[in-house]
Amino acid sequence: MNTPTTQPSESSPSSETALSSSNFPSLAVNLAGLQLKNPTMTGSGTCGYANEYEDFVDISKLGAFVTKSITHEVRPGNPAHRIVETRAGMINAIGLANVGLDAFLHDKIPLLEKLGLPIIANVAGHSMDDYITTAGEISKKTIIDAIELNVSCPNVSDGLTFGTNPPLLRELVQNVKNAIAPRVKLIVKLSPNAPDVLATAVASIEGGSDMISLINTYNALAIDVFKRKPRIARGTGGLSGPAIRPLAVYWTHIVYRNAARDANVPIIGMGGIQTWQDAAEFILAGATGLGVGTALFVDPATPVHICDGLTRWLQTLGVNNINDVIGTLEMPGDTPTCPTT
Ligand SMILES: Cc1cc2nc3c(=O)[nH]c(=O)nc-3n(C[C@H](O)[C@H](O)[C@H](O)COP(=O)(O)O)c2cc1C
Repeated sequence: MNTPTTQPSESSPSSETALSSSNFPSLAVNLAGLQLKNPTMTGSGTCGYANEYEDFVDISKLGAFVTKSITHEVRPGNPAHRIVETRAGMINAIGLANVGLDAFLHDKIPLLEKLGLPIIANVAGHSMDDYITTAGEISKKTIIDAIELNVSCPNVSDGLTFGTNPPLLRELVQNVKNAIAPRVKLIVKLSPNAPDVLATAVASIEGGSDMISLINTYNALAIDVFKRKPRIARGTGGLSGPAIRPLAVYWTHIVYRNAARDANVPIIGMGGIQTWQDAAEFILAGATGLGVGTALFVDPATPVHICDGLTRWLQTLGVNNINDVIGTLEMPGDTPTCPTT
């Protein structure tokens, strides 16, 4: 993957001009009552539980921290190779490797308490009860501000993936919402592999989700042409990085205009964000928060560069507050259509 251009392009003001301005626009956003000093956060699974990244970047500069998916049981994950680089991103099949609920509560929560920024715990499971127990227990910890549900997991009882089946997803969201502490926000992370992504967004909102995050990785396959075998040990994996960015921007736009905007449900957009220009596209399409995942493998300070660039972009536009540009994309004729309905 190429090293990103993380500074504003020549069409933006020079850093000297921008930084000499005393009028810095506000990047603060409100995610369903959760206040963030800027819209950036980690993409789940790409920054562990934070301590892994402490030596590389000042995590307190991010708007929020999102943990690796936590499951009820300890999971060693899939055998190697679990990650391969592709031309415009990477394919991973980590297999939800994580320390499990008990170790998360006892060993990882104290580390997260030191960060001093909003914490979003990502939860995964293979049954309704798994999700309810794990999310419920984690939400009792006062350091946790929100639970993000990774619904790209098959249900053990019927094999259906929660995130691709709207009625099942609605039921899951309702049950988890009832199980978590009322002060804790609920986020549903949508899978782009659903036959109808918009229908899963609607089901999440109907189920009571406070926010939507999108997107998780796309099903993908990379082949070693000499061995005639998959490059990932498990076979298939999930594609992330710049290759999926225009698709992720598209889904942000569709979900914002057709479900989230009218329901007043904020979107956390992610998928291939590497530069401030990428981030600005998501904001214009309707995202209030911004997840950065794969780009952290190239430069752990990517979210910090993105904030610098967004500040200069807003100055160029003459806008004082990032909230004033969220969802302000002008589409031809401004009559949004949704090919999935
Ligand atoms: C190595 C790796 C591990 C990931 N693990 C998780 C995970 O545990 N839970 C989850 O919800 N998403 C996981 N994701 C998906 C990311 O959080 C993100 O949704 C996706 O990669 C798109 O964003 P990006 O292109 O900025 O990486 C993972 C992605 C990568 C690359």
